[in-house]
Amino acid sequence: MAVDVLLGLQWGDEGKGKIVDVLTTNYDIIARFQGGPNAGHTLEFDGIKHVLHTIPSGIFHKGAINIIGNGVVIDPIIFENEIKAINNLDVEMSELLISKKAHLILPTHKLLDAASEKAKGKNKIGSTLKGIGPTYMDKTGRNGLRVGDISAANFKERYEKLKQKHIQILNFYDFEYDLKELELKWFESLNTLKEFEHIESEHYLHNAIKTGKNILAEGAQGTLLDIDFGSYPFVTSSNTIAAGACTGLGIAPNKMKDVFGIFKAYCTRVGSGPFPTELFDEVGEHLGKVGNEFGATTGRPRRCGWIDLPALKYAININGVTKLMMMKGDVLSGIDKIKVCTHYNFNGEKIDYLPFEANDGLTPIFEELEGWQEDLMSLDNLADAPKEFHDYISYLERELETPITIVSVGPDRKQTFFR
Ligand code: GDP
Ligand code: IMO
Ligand code: MG
Repeated sequence: MAVDVLLGLQWGDEGKGKIVDVLTTNYDIIARFQGGPNAGHTLEFDGIKHVLHTIPSGIFHKGAINIIGNGVVIDPIIFENEIKAINNLDVEMSELLISKKAHLILPTHKLLDAASEKAKGKNKIGSTLKGIGPTYMDKTGRNGLRVGDISAANFKERYEKLKQKHIQILNFYDFEYDLKELELKWFESLNTLKEFEHIESEHYLHNAIKTGKNILAEGAQGTLLDIDFGSYPFVTSSNTIAAGACTGLGIAPNKMKDVFGIFKAYCTRVGSGPFPTELFDEVGEHLGKVGNEFGATTGRPRRCGWIDLPALKYAININGVTKLMMMKGDVLSGIDKIKVCTHYNFNGEKIDYLPFEANDGLTPIFEELEGWQEDLMSLDNLADAPKEFHDYISYLERELETPITIVSVGPDRKQTFFR
């Protein structure tokens, strides 16, 4: 029996979907614990490239049980589209169960997200506009509607009440909208949601633990987007960290074993907010181009920069990471000198941690490592990788004091090495 957690250590898009898919063969259950369709998790295998938003990344493995946990927020329209997209593939989907306690994203939540961003102007968060913030606000405000409410006799009534409240706020924002069609589609889409079994996922998972099943909790977003520990207010609205797996699934901390922390060999960020090692030169452009750094959910170009060790150490500590996974090492091929941020200059002082004032401008202090020219994507064995690549991995392991157990050199399942 084991419950392991897999989560992002940076600003999301580290490659969580790919690795959950790769690791699913070791688990009986894959359970998403937070976030919603703001996530875009990309899987590539057998010539298929597929992006998941709400559905766990174990869905293409026969026999795996996938659970959307109570900590997740669900947009029925996007969920229906995800199911349709999977049905259009030549691969069977495995079992999918949904927590009755997962909250619903209403059409008006999406409108509120847009209205709030518009009102913020140039200070906007850069939200994915999927209604995430307003839905979690209604959850903590104790007004939300949950999957388990759909079949209740007074569901429509409760929906109308919440909608009216939202309309008042939209009027306050002076925000123009057209709700009719969106609403119609939303109610239609509930039928797809109803086709899946709605469960009390905490009980289900407790039983699974008791009977010796292996469970992998799949995170969304990344530690630096966490509502408490990220670069607030430029964050998402849920706890993306390991503790989020406890609250988002109802699994106690003493049941957790490994915490897998995923990071890119460099950094990316989509949306607004501080990014100390961001590059505005041709190297940044190169990373974006070679790494194909465009948001899997919104298509927006991702900002690119060098790896940031103080930020990674912070993320490792907050999550209690036991094993690291380094993604997209292949993207660094062809760069002569690779920079690694080891410290920041903050108000004239050299510091090695991420301070509260992170949004006020930290100047990164870099160490330079030798790059390599060789293409890594077609490697059959990690041992055949250039010495400089091995040196980069060893350097990071030493600095981060945590073993790097998976090295990924391409988007496909097969381009994955275990160490
Ligand atoms: P997630 O949100 O953490 O699941 O990550 P995304 O799917 O949003 O973004 C990761 C992107 O990098 C996707 O397009 C993946 O197909 C791709 N990818 C994952 N691992 C690698 C890798 O090692 N090398 C390269 N070149 N691409 C990768
Ligand atoms: P995955 O799971 C990268 C970012 C948005 C924005 C901020 C708030 O694919 O790694 P929200 O819509 O949550 O209110 O947006 O968070 N963001 C992500 N960035 N990957 C994600 O998910 C993200 N989900 C949200 O760009 O800056
Ligand atoms: Mg993503």
